[in-house]
Formats: sequence, C-alpha cells, structure tokens
Amino acid sequence: MAATATPTTQTAPASIPPSVFTLPQTAQLEALYTIIRDKETSRGDFLFYSDRIIRLLVEEGLNHLPVFPKSVETPTGSTYEGVGFEGKICGVSILRAGEAMEAGLREVCRSVRIGKILIQRDEETAQPKLFYSKFPPDINKRYVLLLDPMLATGGSAMKAVEVLQDSGVPEERIIFINLISAPEGLKTFCTRYPKVRLITGWIDKGLNEKAYIIPGLGDFGERRYCV
Ligand code: URA
Repeated sequence: MAATATPTTQTAPASIPPSVFTLPQTAQLEALYTIIRDKETSRGDFLFYSDRIIRLLVEEGLNHLPVFPKSVETPTGSTYEGVGFEGKICGVSILRAGEAMEAGLREVCRSVRIGKILIQRDEETAQPKLFYSKFPPDINKRYVLLLDPMLATGGSAMKAVEVLQDSGVPEERIIFINLISAPEGLKTFCTRYPKVRLITGWIDKGLNEKAYIIPGLGDFGERRYCV
C-alpha cells in the first residue's frame, strides 16, 4: 500500500494555503538567501549559492513523493524493512530560468527525464501564452517536479499546470518547486490549483509595480546567465 513520505518541510503559517511547504527557515538558509539577494554578489557566487538552495528544494520535493513498504536483505544476512519510491518521476522546467534548476534535479535523480515548456506574455492579450513544450511521452504516468525559480504573479506557473493537465498529468501528481514566492502569486496559484504541492524556499513581502518580487533578488535569469 502506498504512503506519502514524511516531508521535513515546514507547513506554512495559517495565512498561507495548506498546499504550500517552505524549507525550514534556519540561519544557514537565511545566510544563503542573503548572498543571492545581495546585488554585489558575483555571478560565480550567485551560481554556487543558488545551486545549493536548489539542491535543498529538490530534496524536499522528493520527500513529498509516495513510497511503499519494501524489505531488503542486507550483507549481514538480516532483513531491513524499508520503503521504496512508488512512481516514476520527471522534471519539467519553465524556460528559461527554470533550466537553472535542472542540474540540481539531475544531481539527486540519476538519468531523470526532463521536459521543457516555454511560456511568454502574449503582447495582444497580455496573458501568458504557450510557445513550446516537449515532455516525456509517458508523462501522464509520472509525478512531475515543475521547476521555476521565482513565483511572482503565478501566471506562467498556472499556464504550465494547465498544459501539463492537457497532457494527462493530474493536479495531485505535480510538485511545483521554486526559490522565492510572492504572497500574491501563492494565493492565486493555490486557489486555482489547490492539489498541486508547492515547495518554496522563502516567501517574500510582495510585488512591485513591475511585478518583481520584493525584496527578491532581481531578475533571476539575468543574475544567473549574464556576466
Ligand atoms: N522573475 C524574476 O526573475 N524576478 C522576479 O522578481 C520576478 C520574476
């Protein structure tokens, strides 16, 4: 019988939807965020420290996957009553910033399949529009770790979930992982998709008039890819 693994993430405060899980807000984590938020941080350090946070987030995401009882025999001849992962997984990165999270997923899940999705603002309607997607053919049988570092308004993430659903992935098999969330985006996203588990490293204060997260870290893609 399947059981959901026990996450080590913290359940967010009451004002935050119950499908949201934050990393334990330790001093170490806060120090990592302080480095990547600092505008004086070099690109090399931004890469290194954002990768450390991504790794923690991916590990936490995996804690939300179901497991089943599994016993193995150890080299001492004894039986160990453990668990095994129940289903197959894949990653789906929202281009382009989400690609930065792929390596962190590959580090912990060897030969994991990774799909991609490109969503951009439609200049005519101002709504998020799907431009490209490529998924593993059996994605409807997998758990999906959806990767996008910054949850601002939630527009792209919601479009991505819609596209995944159109490809046969049920909402409850999607785990959305991001580094920083704005409360506005969290509320909109979780109201529309209450069964998607959302793992975030930090919940910030809000959005500015340009829809950047405050205090945030600026443009994640620019900090990561531009020298
Ligand atoms: N995307 C970013 O890179 N930064 C933000 O603050 C919001 C969206």
